[in-house]
Amino acid sequence: MDIRVLKPADIPHVQSTNITNLPENYFMKYYLYHALSWPQLSYVAVDVSRPKKTPYDPPKIVGYVLAKMEEEPVNGIQHGHITSLSVMRTHRRLGLAEKLMRQSQRAMVEMFGAQYVSLHVRMSNIAALRLYRDTLGFEVEKVESKYYADGEDAYSMKMNLNPLREQLEADEDYADEGEEVGDVGKKEKKKEDGEQGKTKRKVKLGRGLGVGELVERNESSKA
Ligand code: ACO
Repeated sequence: MDIRVLKPADIPHVQSTNITNLPENYFMKYYLYHALSWPQLSYVAVDVSRPKKTPYDPPKIVGYVLAKMEEEPVNGIQHGHITSLSVMRTHRRLGLAEKLMRQSQRAMVEMFGAQYVSLHVRMSNIAALRLYRDTLGFEVEKVESKYYADGEDAYSMKMNLNPLREQLEADEDYADEGEEVGDVGKKEKKKEDGEQGKTKRKVKLGRGLGVGELVERNESSKA
């Protein structure tokens, strides 16, 4: 099973998964709006166990999470929102929904500095409630009366993402990129042997790495 970011080409397959699993369905442009506005937040679970018969076989999408950031947050507090989540019956209870949710929540924190994530769920949806409340740690904020088109009430739920941010920062601080090799490795090793045992060293990861300062060139002075 492959869990990866949703691509615009996946949208028809995600839409068909959504129609199979949920009564809340959306126009194609609403999926596109998510994929283009917040391309890091929506994920799909793809069954890669069966080889493609032709190069044109579509990916077998068995689950998805469609997520976004709140565009006009109250009090300016950045937060994400889960628009829709579902997994095909054939692939349930394998931990896919949990993984899809955790990937999206992580991206909300890393990319957009989200402080919490919200969602709505039917009060009768025991499976989803167990997932959100017991597995992931969401809390019920309030009941929204007649939220759904058929008149059912919804729980409006929220999860604080600050503990996740702290955990990610701690992981980043103590990440170890492995032993250095070649001459550099030898020098380090000698130094360490001379001192008392191994030393810990902070290294930059992810967005802290690689991209140098961008300098804008003044083209007008050339003419
Ligand atoms: N009964 C009780 N608890 C459940 C159930 C269930 N049927 N399904 C999941 N859980 C809980 C369990 O605690 C489970 O952990 P465990 O298997 O170790 O006991 C935990 O959630 C994680 O389960 P996953 O395997 O990650 O969940 P799955 O991939 O099966 O997907 C989902 C769960 C998305 C709710 C699935 O049942 C589904 O697609 N249902 C139909 C669509 C739906 O209701 N979507 C949510 C609507 S709300 C919204 O979209 C914002």
